[in-house]
Amino acid sequence: MQHSGGRYRGAPLPVNRTTRELSSAGRSSPHPEVREEPAPVAWVGPTSPESRPKPDHGHVGIGDPSAQELDPAASEGQSPETEAKVATAMDHPPNGTGPPTVLAAHDLSKRFGSKVAVEHLNLEVHAGEIFGFLGPNGAGKTTTMRMALGLIRPTSGWVEVFGQDVARHGAAVLPKVGPLVETPALYLHLSGRDNLKVFAAPLGGVPPGRIESLLELVDLSERQRDRVGTYSLGMRQRLGLAISLLHNPELLVLDEPANGLDPAGIKSIRSLLRQLRDFGKTVFISSHVLGEVERLCDRVAILRRGQLIQVGRIEEFRDSAGPFVVDVEDAQGALDLLHCQPWGQSARLDGQGRILTEAPGGRGRELNSVLSRAGFVPDGIGRQQRDLEEIFLELTGDAQ
Ligand SMILES: Nc1ncnc2c1ncn2[C@@H]1O[C@H](COP(=O)(O)OP(=O)(O)O)[C@@H](O)[C@H]1O
Ligand SMILES: [Mg+2]
Repeated sequence: MQHSGGRYRGAPLPVNRTTRELSSAGRSSPHPEVREEPAPVAWVGPTSPESRPKPDHGHVGIGDPSAQELDPAASEGQSPETEAKVATAMDHPPNGTGPPTVLAAHDLSKRFGSKVAVEHLNLEVHAGEIFGFLGPNGAGKTTTMRMALGLIRPTSGWVEVFGQDVARHGAAVLPKVGPLVETPALYLHLSGRDNLKVFAAPLGGVPPGRIESLLELVDLSERQRDRVGTYSLGMRQRLGLAISLLHNPELLVLDEPANGLDPAGIKSIRSLLRQLRDFGKTVFISSHVLGEVERLCDRVAILRRGQLIQVGRIEEFRDSAGPFVVDVEDAQGALDLLHCQPWGQSARLDGQGRILTEAPGGRGRELNSVLSRAGFVPDGIGRQQRDLEEIFLELTGDAQ
C-alpha cells in the first residue's frame, strides 16, 4: 500500500515526521482480510480525471460581530473573478450525481498504548458540504483525519471514503482526496512555483496550465518565483492547499489549515474554501477555534476527548442552547412552582433575580401559561442569548 494509487517517480516527497511515527501504531482492524502492513506514510495520487460536484446548495450565514452582513459570501467577497479562477484551476464539473456521503467514520476508535485518542466515533460528511470538525487541542481531530487518509490504521472501526474502507481500498479512493494535515512540508529553498512542480512530478504531471491557475487561485501568482522561505505562514498554507489541489480531488481533508494565520489569512482561506465548495468540492476541515469555521461550515461536529458531542448546523446549536429567562415579581414563589414540574427541576435564579429555566416542550408560550395560571404573571420571557464561543466551550469542556 505504499504510495497507493500513485505513480511515484522519484521526486523527493517531504514526509511529515509525525506521520512516520504514527504509521507504526495500531494495526488491528475489524476486517480480518486486511493485511497488517504499515500504512502509507505519504500518499501521492494520479490526476483525477473526473469530479462529482453538486454545486446546488446555499451558504449558511452565521452571524459575526466583525461583519456587517450575515451572508459570509457577501462579507468576504466572492467575486466573479475568483469564481473564474476556480473554474480555470479545476476541471469543469460533469453533471453526474455524487454519493450523498463521501466520508463516514464507523464506530471508529484509536488507541496509542493506553491512551484513547478517538472513541467509537460515528460521523458522515456529505457530498458538496463544508463539514467542520471542532474540538479543543487533544480532542482527536488529527488522529481521525490521519485515519481518514489511510495514514494510520484504526484500532477498531473503519473509515469509509467514497463508499470504500480506506484501510482496504485506499489505492482506489485516495486519489480523489486532497490532504492537508498540519503544516505542509515545503521546500523552503525552492520557489512556490517549483514546489508545485516537484509535487506534481510524482503524479505523472498535471494538465497544462494547472500550476498557473492554482497559483492564481491561491493568490500567489505575484510571488510564485520567490523562495518559499520568504513566504508568510499564510502564503505557505495557501501553497499547501494548492498542492493538495494539484490532482483535482473531490474531497479535501484539511487539518487546521487556519492554524497560526492572522485574520486576513484566515479570511482568505475561508473565501477560497467557499469557492471550492461552490464548485462542488467537499471539504472536511478541522479547527480548535470556533470562530475560524463558524461562518464557513454547513455542518459541524464537536469532538471532546475522542468522543462526538454533537453534530449539526451551527444555528441549531445556537437554537438549542440557552435556557429561558423569566422576569417575574415573585421570583422565589415562581421558582418553587417550577421546581415541582418535571421539566423545571433545573430552574434557578441568575445574578439579577431573574429565573433561568427550561420550558415545557421547549416552548416559551407554555412556560408563560403555566406561570400565569398559578398567578405568577411574567413581565417578560425570552431565550438567554449566549455567545457561540461560550456554547462551544461548554460543550467541549476543558482541553486535555
Ligand atoms: N503518536 C501518538 N502517540 C501517543 N499519543 C498520541 C499520538 N498522537 C496523538 N496522541 C494523543 O491522542 C490524543 C488526540 O490527539 P490529536 O488527534 O492530535 O488531537 P487534536 O488534533 O484534536 O489536537 C491526544 O491526547 C494526543 O496526545
Ligand atoms: Mg490536531
